[in-house]
Amino acid sequence: MTTRTRIAAGNWKMNGVAADLAEVEAIAATGARTSEVVTLLCLPATLIDRARGYGVSLGGQTLHAAKSGAHTGDISGQMLVDAGATYVIVGHSERRTDHGESDADICAQAGAAWAAGLTAVICIGETEAQYRAGETLDVLRGQIAGSVPQGATPGNTVIAYEPVWAIGTGLTPEVPEIQSVHAEVRAALGTHVGGGENLSVLYGGSVKAANASEIFALEDVDGGLVGGASLKAADFVPVIEALAAS
Ligand code: PGA
Repeated sequence: MTTRTRIAAGNWKMNGVAADLAEVEAIAATGARTSEVVTLLCLPATLIDRARGYGVSLGGQTLHAAKSGAHTGDISGQMLVDAGATYVIVGHSERRTDHGESDADICAQAGAAWAAGLTAVICIGETEAQYRAGETLDVLRGQIAGSVPQGATPGNTVIAYEPVWAIGTGLTPEVPEIQSVHAEVRAALGTHVGGGENLSVLYGGSVKAANASEIFALEDVDGGLVGGASLKAADFVPVIEALAAS
């Protein structure tokens, strides 16, 4: 049996200025005490370099598929590495929706992340309409086939399953439903890439202290990708501790 990396990942989205580095420092202090869990903060690009040295893993929230060039406002994998990142989120539903990113775009971004030496956190998830129509597994299999490049290994790729309707809404699927979807995602990863079943698969969407323990106890959940509850140490520290205890 392989031991999958357990990751408590925070996604700060478009939140955070220098004054919030105190939260990063407090989160990092807990992360440093829980060596069985990787504590990762995917910060706004402006904060990554300034959060170096706190001892927490750092990540970007997107990157351009090209190495460099005429792409005003974009950020490259090399720039994220230069700032101190070791991970980058790709294919978050907010990027898929707000920026029209396709599975092919995300696949190319994941490849660019690897080329820069970053671990790609590839996000997948169904919309509420797809969920209600019973299309969840078909959607996820399609996103895996389209956005996870061949060559994905536990060393270069993490998957985050985030139902779009659960993000920022306070809603989550029923706990048994999360387990069954994660088991199907793991099976689909194994079919898509050799050894894909060994990738860490995080759950995301309204994870908080109150539900973290029951979600992290699930066999096929290897951690969480947390938005709103990652911004304050008082909210995120219990989530990290729940993962460490699970
Ligand atoms: P949320 O966001 O925890 O605020 O629901 C999760 C995410 O979008 O990664």
